[in-house]
Amino acid sequence: MKFLKNFKSELTVESPGRINLIGEHTDYNMGYVLPTAIEKKIIFQFRKNDSPNKCQVYSTTFDTGFKLDLNAIEKSAIEWENYILGVLDEISKRTNKLEGFDCTIESNLPTGSGLSSSAALECGLAYGLNELFDLGLTKMEMVKLSQVAEHTYAGTQCGIMDQFASVMSKEGHMLLLDCRSLDYTPIPINLNPYKIILLNTKVSHNLATSEYNTRKNECEQGVAVLKEDYPEVNSLRDVTFEMLDCVRDRVSTTVYNRCSFIIAENNRVHEMAEALSKNDLVKVGQILYDAHEGISKLYEVSCAESDYLVEFSKSNEFVLGARQTGGGFGGCTLNIVHEDGVENFITSATKAYKENFNIVLEAFEVKPSTGTFSYTHKES
Ligand code: GLA
Repeated sequence: MKFLKNFKSELTVESPGRINLIGEHTDYNMGYVLPTAIEKKIIFQFRKNDSPNKCQVYSTTFDTGFKLDLNAIEKSAIEWENYILGVLDEISKRTNKLEGFDCTIESNLPTGSGLSSSAALECGLAYGLNELFDLGLTKMEMVKLSQVAEHTYAGTQCGIMDQFASVMSKEGHMLLLDCRSLDYTPIPINLNPYKIILLNTKVSHNLATSEYNTRKNECEQGVAVLKEDYPEVNSLRDVTFEMLDCVRDRVSTTVYNRCSFIIAENNRVHEMAEALSKNDLVKVGQILYDAHEGISKLYEVSCAESDYLVEFSKSNEFVLGARQTGGGFGGCTLNIVHEDGVENFITSATKAYKENFNIVLEAFEVKPSTGTFSYTHKES
């Protein structure tokens, strides 16, 4: 794009993707999650452009960009632009300090792969503009406004996990986050001699947004029925298996299954935190396999490709456990693999996946990493 030639950056922001070790779809049910940022990220370069309201945003990775006017922000027909526009809209509601800026974006974070490239985009933009214009937003405010932007502009009624993990993560730790109180505890993670290997199915079944919102709605249906007997229940976070069984004949099998998955998944977050603290890696692996079973059969947010890779991992003696990570319907499986078997696992999984789905798998190691950070560039 011509208009961003000779771009001289004033500020760089590095905004990471995330993995979630356990606690899938529990965030919007006010439960617990255990995510962390990873090294794969989106890197933003920002400069003020001396205009009161004209902005330019350009992705060097996808060689595409757009111009916008801060006084006329509205939804776009182009998906990724909405993450930017939504954040600008939310920031504009909170402050009038925003002015014209230019920004370039470069990414090594695969999109549509369950690693929260959308949260990385939203939060990185909010973080950069906060620095550039001294907006005075706290990290939590940036996390929350980015989540709202996703609701209003992208149309996904997501929970808070992705934005929280992208901004708040700590190197070498998982974040045990209570999505109701937003209290969190960094849990040290040392899997040595095991590694976290992601296998990217390279599929992202496009039902994801509508099915995601449907799942949220099904959970709410469950809560409404539970509330008849237990008025104190405000979310599935407050529900036990015993309580769910009492209303079994008043909810559909689908709603029952969704609720029972969430209750079990919430419990698994605590079991996982305990297993990590005891360094019980066999247990860590077992929890992942159990979770995938629920993701696939009860919550029904998996797909043939993810199921295949998780099943395939079970035949490899170097793998302790695996499951699909993220919102679902494709994206990546997360595998705990002994360092001596990583190469063999990746090679054999790639071959088998190609034979079955005719897709070339993308495989990479991830490490629990730090959340968003920035640095400025001195005038020369
Ligand atoms: C997506 C959403 C998150 C969370 C996960 C599932 O990534 O953005 O809020 O619900 O799915 O755990």
